[in-house]
Amino acid sequence: MNMDFKFELTRLLELIDAHLRKATPNATQSLQLNTARLSSKPIKDSRLENQNFWATKATIESARKQLASAPENIRLMASYISVIAHELDWYKKPNTVDDPEFHKNHFNAIIFGERGLATCEDLMLGVTVMHPHTMYPKHRHRPEELYIALSESEWWQPNQNWFAPGVGGTVHNPSNSLHSMRSAGTPLLAL
Ligand SMILES: [Fe+2]
Repeated sequence: MNMDFKFELTRLLELIDAHLRKATPNATQSLQLNTARLSSKPIKDSRLENQNFWATKATIESARKQLASAPENIRLMASYISVIAHELDWYKKPNTVDDPEFHKNHFNAIIFGERGLATCEDLMLGVTVMHPHTMYPKHRHRPEELYIALSESEWWQPNQNWFAPGVGGTVHNPSNSLHSMRSAGTPLLAL
């Protein structure tokens, strides 16, 4: 692990584990984040030349401003994301160039995983950032997903239509089920 971020990454994992334990105990039990081990990953050259970083930095800070009255654990998660943001390998969802608005307005980065700052056994944990008024196109994939919304946002699932989980709310997208998310007047930030 990049030793500079050992504290932030460890705390971030603890915060996520504690939050999910309360919000969605069943899913959390199978994740076993409390016993997961972080392992080192060599850090590549600074990502500061990555243009995606500069676009995300401003958006993350804008999302953090919206969290002034949010619970402390949520504010801390967002602040650790902000601290590590310049080392993350921000990328666009592949094959979205035919949707230029979406392509321009959203970014993903892996925190724990092969493309991340550390590995955490077989866990893949990432962060999604979207500018205001952006919709992530409906899609499906085999891996299931569990999100923590760190901003106001709306999410779509076939049985719920659009719904707002609220700041700190969790969203579970089962394997192969169609899903989507969108931001309104403020940026979307989610783990
Ligand atoms: Fe997805």
